[in-house]
Amino acid sequence: MKKFIPVNQKGGVGKTTTSYNFTHHLAERGFRSVLVDGDEQGNASNAMAPYAVESFTAADLFSDEPLPMPAALGKLALIPTDKVRMREIEQCDLEDEVLVANLRDRLAELAPHFDYVTFDTPGSNSRIANAFLAVSDFVIIPCKIDPFSVSVSAEVLMRVMFIQQHFNPGLVNFGILANEFDPRQPAQVQDFKQLLASHHQYMFPKPITDRQAYREAAGAQVPVWRLKEGGTGDNRNRIKTAARDAGKEIRAVFDVLIGKMEGAEVRP
Ligand SMILES: Nc1ncnc2c1ncn2[C@@H]1O[C@H](COP(=O)(O)OP(=O)(O)OP(=O)(O)O)[C@@H](O)[C@H]1O
Ligand SMILES: [Mg+2]
Repeated sequence: MKKFIPVNQKGGVGKTTTSYNFTHHLAERGFRSVLVDGDEQGNASNAMAPYAVESFTAADLFSDEPLPMPAALGKLALIPTDKVRMREIEQCDLEDEVLVANLRDRLAELAPHFDYVTFDTPGSNSRIANAFLAVSDFVIIPCKIDPFSVSVSAEVLMRVMFIQQHFNPGLVNFGILANEFDPRQPAQVQDFKQLLASHHQYMFPKPITDRQAYREAAGAQVPVWRLKEGGTGDNRNRIKTAARDAGKEIRAVFDVLIGKMEGAEVRP
């Protein structure tokens, strides 16, 4: 089971958008795919609620007890968050090493059931996010493009390097994924060019465009490429044009990532 994590300590940059759409995309490409919602806000748990396992939550992944596995698991699943217990874990007395060891053991129990797990994380430098980073195989850094993005990105890159050096030397960094990019705004185009120049080897070369369809799709609990026109008209079951364009763009990025992940050897 390969483990993928979008991470950034800044909030609202596209971690959840990336993680739940990627989870769906993997399943549509034939992989058994599960999303773990590690953020007590529960945005991913809402976006993927129809696929939630009922017998345990993301908090149970940090327990030293075996997972109460359901009789059957779908090829597409969500392990939902648990607001109260995730907060307790964040503040508990257990050493970080113990949390990470528990997480490894519980993920080993999930591994026979899924080809990929994707972790959604909170927009903060939290223990939980760092524990998920410590056990992941691949990381990507969604980032908005604004005058602060260079310094924000430098901070996240340092954090990933710290995790690589101290906890997880095998972690592959796919780099910064520019999100909510508006090519009609000259300032953004300029900032993106600057990022490419200053962080060349840590940048995913294609940005994700700003499109309203992402918000609507999360609310409708579908991946963006399945967002329908809705309403009462004859077109209500037709996929929205903006959603189709968004899907085409983000799925091309996902296919590049899958290609890299499928080609990589990871630890068992
Ligand atoms: N490319 C995009 N175009 C337009 N809207 C987007 C795009 N990506 C994300 N959004 C919207 O921006 C908001 C924040 O995105 P998202 O929830 O994915 O960020 P996040 O990093 O997970 O935030 P948090 O740190 O709060 O968990 C959401 O309403 C989402 O639908
Ligand atoms: Mg989020």
